[in-house]
Amino acid sequence: MSRGDGKRQSAPAGHLPALHLPVLYTQVMEGLQVKEDGTYLDGTFGRGGHARGVLQRLGPGGRLLLRDKDPDAIAHAEQMFAGDARVAIRRGSFASMAQWDETAAGLDGVLLDLGVSSPQLDVAERGFSFGKDGPLDMRMDPESGESAAEWIARAEEREIADVLWTYGEEKQSRRIARAIVARRATQPFTRTADLASVIASVMPRGDKIHPATRSFQAIRIHINRELADLELGLDAALA
Ligand SMILES: C[S@@+](CC[C@H](N)C(=O)[O-])C[C@H]1O[C@@H](n2cnc3c(N)ncnc32)[C@H](O)[C@@H]1O
Repeated sequence: MSRGDGKRQSAPAGHLPALHLPVLYTQVMEGLQVKEDGTYLDGTFGRGGHARGVLQRLGPGGRLLLRDKDPDAIAHAEQMFAGDARVAIRRGSFASMAQWDETAAGLDGVLLDLGVSSPQLDVAERGFSFGKDGPLDMRMDPESGESAAEWIARAEEREIADVLWTYGEEKQSRRIARAIVARRATQPFTRTADLASVIASVMPRGDKIHPATRSFQAIRIHINRELADLELGLDAALA
């Protein structure tokens, strides 16, 4: 479900600038079957690659509702589309889409492109990346909820292991949780590179991916309540 590091597919020439190529662009447009006068919700705006495709297919009577948890994504949405009368923009989780009055009359389609965006991974300060050192944060909405550093500082060893196993399928979950708890007793974790290196230090060699990949994915999913949001969002979209 996650990524932003998944395989990106070239959009058809003339549909999108080379700048941003969202995942499964052609399949998403085929699946949405945008009607000229329809109303659609893009619940995960990101940098708007899919939203732009929907807008190209909507007529003047159509409507596109844009949502994202991330204030940077919403700032981009406003910059790109605030002048378009067909567009409404509101920050927040897609889990609460039903509370947005614009959805009350029903929707013709909902797009949820789950996980992290490339900019979230690329900007070290957002604290999602084991490859780029930054503050250990990982919140898509940095103004809400607990950061990864706060959670790692207080969670019990068992809870950390469960999160790594459940959301990352990390076979070394117990060993990693033990190492985290031992290390934090002397020095709290505040940086992504520090956490990645402690995880790497207890992992067996030979993995093709970075040894912290599954753990970082798991902690991110936990911190952002991604599966709980998805359940609520799917129920709301169907309703
Ligand atoms: C993979 S990116 C979406 C990329 C987008 N489709 C595009 O074309 O640029 C995922 C985005 O979803 C947002 N996101 C993840 N979970 C969310 C949720 N529960 N509610 C709202 N936005 C969410 C993230 O902040 C991120 O910007």
